Amino acid sequence: PTTLAEASPFPVGFAINPSPMQNNARYRQTVTQEASSITADLAMKPSRISPQKGVFNFEGADYLVDFARSQKKRVHGHTLVWYINTSPEWLKQLRDSTELETTLREYIQTVGTHFKGKVASWDVVNEAFDNNQGAIRRDSVDKSGRTLFNVGKILGNDYVARMFQYAHKADPGARLFYNDYGQETIPAKLNAIVAMATDFQQRGIPIHGLGLQMHISIDTPDAGIETAIRKLADTGLLIHISELDVAMNPGKKKDFIATPALIEQQYQKYKFVVSTYKKVVPVSQQFGITFWGVDDGTSWIPGHCQCTDYALPFDAQFARKRAYQGFLDGLH
Ligand code: G3I
Repeated sequence: PTTLAEASPFPVGFAINPSPMQNNARYRQTVTQEASSITADLAMKPSRISPQKGVFNFEGADYLVDFARSQKKRVHGHTLVWYINTSPEWLKQLRDSTELETTLREYIQTVGTHFKGKVASWDVVNEAFDNNQGAIRRDSVDKSGRTLFNVGKILGNDYVARMFQYAHKADPGARLFYNDYGQETIPAKLNAIVAMATDFQQRGIPIHGLGLQMHISIDTPDAGIETAIRKLADTGLLIHISELDVAMNPGKKKDFIATPALIEQQYQKYKFVVSTYKKVVPVSQQFGITFWGVDDGTSWIPGHCQCTDYALPFDAQFARKRAYQGFLDGLH
């Protein structure tokens, strides 16, 4: 095998954006050759699809879907509902529970119908749980003390279940996922997600999979990674490592240098994640592994941490890194 897609027994791919797909030949070539599945990084988020109330803009998302279909790659949709971050400004203004519920239901219906049969799966709700008690997020306060839009507070904890029902109605063929981060380091959050999934299964709420984002670093303990994969897999649902990247500079050092020792640690971490996924998740539940980005030049991390980092399997020139080899070696 000469690419990730050829080597991997389960789907593998990247979160990608239309602009570098159109403007950077090496980015496009890497995605074309290495991926069997893609996720939209930004183009399918509510803020991009519906920047104004009643307006739906599918241009970027359709471009990615058309590319994937022409190359016979799977498309994973991300995300129908997000508690706050990428909700459009107009949606964040809504406070009336009936109006908010109706708006989300109609949004899911419109978007789910638009991509029906083209998107294999959806993250229906993203990041609904807090990082402390593993409770559904109710209060979010920004740095200046302003209370922010919060779906859980307005609609109640069981809104997550209803969003899954709306998504299933819009596209009965799509596999529906709950997606969250930090499950490998926050036991309360992991346990709450497992409990919710089990409750959904018992109540007949249409959930098919769990997304483990895995924005981890070279310092993330292996034990927590293995526990998260194992507990999620024990639900019997599909398991998607949905946003994998391994930061090398978790301390956000200003004068960071990727030494050979750190490159080796990143290799080992990628290898551990892949080998654990392959060993612990039954084959029938292996939905696949998605990197959150393709290359270190377009990774979301440096912009977010305001620091230097190299978290992905390709460097900024699209050369395969030791991290790439870590993925391959984890398959054996
Ligand atoms: O494109 C504009 C640019 O024109 C503007 O000058 C600049 C100023 O802030 O913002 C740019 O948009 C930013 C966009 O990324 C593109 O870089 C947004 O502010 C920024 O909020 C956005 O961040 C994205 C974030 O989700 C929020 O939507 C990241 O790229 C994206 O990778 C990240 O992805 C999330 C997953 O959806 C969920 N899990 C965590 C993951 C990483 O945070």
